[in-house]
Amino acid sequence: MIVRSRIVGCGSYLPSRLVTNDDLTKIVDTSDEWIVERSGIRQRHLAAEGETTSDLATAAALQALERAGIKGSDVDLIVLGTATPDHTFPATATKVQARIGMTGGAAFDVQAVCSGFIYALAIADNFIRTGQAKTAVVIGAETFSRILDWSDRTSCVLFGDGAGAVVLRAGEGEGTSRDRGILSTHLHSDGRHHDLLLVDGGPSSTQTVGHIRMAGREVFRHAIANLSSVVGEALAANGLGAADIDWVVPHQANQRILEGTAKKLGLSMERMVGTLDRHANTSAASVPLALAEAVGDGRIKEGQLVLLEAMGGGFTWGAGLVRM
Ligand code: ACO
Repeated sequence: MIVRSRIVGCGSYLPSRLVTNDDLTKIVDTSDEWIVERSGIRQRHLAAEGETTSDLATAAALQALERAGIKGSDVDLIVLGTATPDHTFPATATKVQARIGMTGGAAFDVQAVCSGFIYALAIADNFIRTGQAKTAVVIGAETFSRILDWSDRTSCVLFGDGAGAVVLRAGEGEGTSRDRGILSTHLHSDGRHHDLLLVDGGPSSTQTVGHIRMAGREVFRHAIANLSSVVGEALAANGLGAADIDWVVPHQANQRILEGTAKKLGLSMERMVGTLDRHANTSAASVPLALAEAVGDGRIKEGQLVLLEAMGGGFTWGAGLVRM
């Protein structure tokens, strides 16, 4: 028998403030048609004044714990993927730790931008597999509205705020792809593309927070190639094919990236969970938000095979295969 990390609860949180594409036409020279046609986005939730990433993350974590029937004091690991922490330090995860009533174990942040949740999940899975943790909360939480340049129409229309979380618990498996739990995770990065998608500030460079700068077309081109490749890698590692996947829960960056990746892999769009139209790109939060939605409404069922994938700044990208 081997140790497998099982997803035993999912949670999410979206700020109540809704901003439509039409609302954005009052801020920048854009249109609902352009945004929908180029990205698939129709609206996004934005954090209220004073609402922070740790607020969003805590709400998602508490919902995931409640659904799992697990107390915060029983958690021994929090890994939080975010590119928009409350403070430069300490980690936003430590704020969440205090607020869910967890006093032992370890809590830390992971920075892999839009791939942050996949990175956090992989780290937590490895902690559980090696016996260093038994019950982990893995979170993706962002307030990208704080780092958008609201005068740059090429980027500010694409993002939203939100958080999603899962509770992982150590279980047992036989080491086959029929096991319940995380079957494998696959992480990549290529720092040669650092400058194609970045925030032009930071404590050690400019001593400012900075704003997102993105070479959209270049990112788009790399996204489909990298995502298809890592999905192929995840399937091959488990002796599975695209036909075995029940659901893909992809990072929600652009409808055309979702369609391009699905086509390249021969996957039907009906098997892709989509929240982009309502949430926009919430970076590290997008995968756990979509997962919580599809588990919550009964689309994703126990025993089904779910593929998670994401790509973001760095570039970073990754995938995880999970039997629910
Ligand atoms: N409203 C109206 N017009 C706009 C807007 C806007 N919001 N933004 C740009 N335009 C204009 C441009 O100025 C340009 O005009 P021009 O031809 O007169 O110069 C025209 O629209 C076309 O611009 P492009 O950048 O070529 O448009 P494109 O079809 O490439 O779409 C987009 C842009 C949506 C950014 C696309 O490249 C994309 O989605 N890239 C992926 C980036 C991404 O998803 N990043 C998220 C983070 S990384 C990740 O999560 C994978």
